[in-house]
Amino acid sequence: MLSIQRGVNLAKHPPSRLNARMQSVLDYIEDNQSRFVDDLSEYLRFPSISAQPEHKKDIAACSKWIAGKCKEIGLKTEVCKTSGQPIVVARTPRKKNSRKPHYLVYGHYDVQPPDPLELWKTPPFKPQIANGNIYARGSTDNKGQHMAHLKAVEAYLKTGTDLPCDITFIIEGEEEVGSSNLTPFVQKRKKDFKCEGVVVSDTGMPSPKHPAVTYALRGVMALEVRLDGPARDLHSGVFGGSIENPAMALCQLMAKCRNDRGKVLVPGFYDDVEKLTKYEREQMAKVPHSDRAYLKMLGSPKIFGEPGYSATEQRSARPTFEINGLTSGYQGEGSKTIVPSYASCKITIRLVPNQKPQTILRQVKAHLKKVCPPSVKITIEGGHEGDPYLVAPKSDQVQAGLSALKKAFGHEAIVMREGGSIPIVNDFKKILGADTLLLGLALPDDNLHSPNEKFSLEQYRKGMIMSAHLWQGLGAS
Ligand code: BES
Ligand code: ZN
Repeated sequence: MLSIQRGVNLAKHPPSRLNARMQSVLDYIEDNQSRFVDDLSEYLRFPSISAQPEHKKDIAACSKWIAGKCKEIGLKTEVCKTSGQPIVVARTPRKKNSRKPHYLVYGHYDVQPPDPLELWKTPPFKPQIANGNIYARGSTDNKGQHMAHLKAVEAYLKTGTDLPCDITFIIEGEEEVGSSNLTPFVQKRKKDFKCEGVVVSDTGMPSPKHPAVTYALRGVMALEVRLDGPARDLHSGVFGGSIENPAMALCQLMAKCRNDRGKVLVPGFYDDVEKLTKYEREQMAKVPHSDRAYLKMLGSPKIFGEPGYSATEQRSARPTFEINGLTSGYQGEGSKTIVPSYASCKITIRLVPNQKPQTILRQVKAHLKKVCPPSVKITIEGGHEGDPYLVAPKSDQVQAGLSALKKAFGHEAIVMREGGSIPIVNDFKKILGADTLLLGLALPDDNLHSPNEKFSLEQYRKGMIMSAHLWQGLGAS
């Protein structure tokens, strides 16, 4: 049984150089930590798994619950239906002709499937607190991270402190499956969402001593490949050798897509890749990294990747071709001597600026069709996609982010790229003309998308403090 520990640091912030109003916001944050943790814990009980249709009701209940929390603190809140999952929109109260800068805060209440369940030490939707962390699916990705912003806004509203910015929260339920209904929704509400910028905490930082603003994300192109062979599974002794084995053919096909050092072999794949600048490579070298500690944390035997790039560069600034799941033949206990009738795999390709998902899909399809042997029938289906994202690492908004992070974490903040994807940020740019400020609170060992996902309660608390300072900085810039 894990011990319940509410031991967050309740020390008050020294009043030096903080005006009294800001002080009351920060005090409110400290004084309400235990309730804030309880709220997060309640939020984490919803199995809001967007990839699995049987959780539609849980998703709806989760969207209502978070909308209720927004209403409770005085936000004008709507739960908007879409042809997929509902989107929660919640605005701070504002004067009719407000001249304050308007910012969106984007987050997602949907989560990844928790499988494999047997690897969880405690059930994924029964949040447990241990060693200063809260363990549950969605704790860091992304419920805890956007809730930190909601709590900071609550602190302003409940202490009657003037918020320097008008803020609209957009909390969606389909980020983990590509955000396809959010794009038309943003388009439809373009006028309401006109803003100076978007704030997103859905990425990470290398450590609490190295808080970071992320200025680039990788894009993504998902696809599924299926090879069909014989009409049914066949006896491998009677027929094997005369009939192609689709599982073998799929392995051979995949080996023609990526070499053993991670280089993608699809013709034209690297044509649009923007070269890293000297400044960027210098910044990336500042991201703390030890191969040994990294391998230990991930339980992997050796660092992998193309020659000439560091692990930090590989995982954030280089494109990849990954198999996410492989299916074929007999998977049960013992052996079964068959030639399976088909083999399939799920693939995602991570893209870097300026690669385009549709161009890449075309190139990959053409390559697969060309190298696929005639002894199987190939079917390729494109899935969700998202463009890579890149903003100027030296903008005023980035400066405001760096400064808020430094105030909250007590350490100089760095700029860095990240390897994950948040597809909607490009649409915010295209539709609203707004840049996104990525202020990630996840730590490298938070197990995003893995068993035993957690969120550090210190990161949660400091995230709120960061958010409180951020509105001052953005309001002034
Ligand atoms: N929070 C992640 C994205 C992320 C994590 C970015 C860490 C940078 C660092 C987000 O919830 C996510 O998982 N996105 C998906 C998007 C995909 C389904 C289109 C991803 O990156 O796999
Ligand atoms: Zn995720």
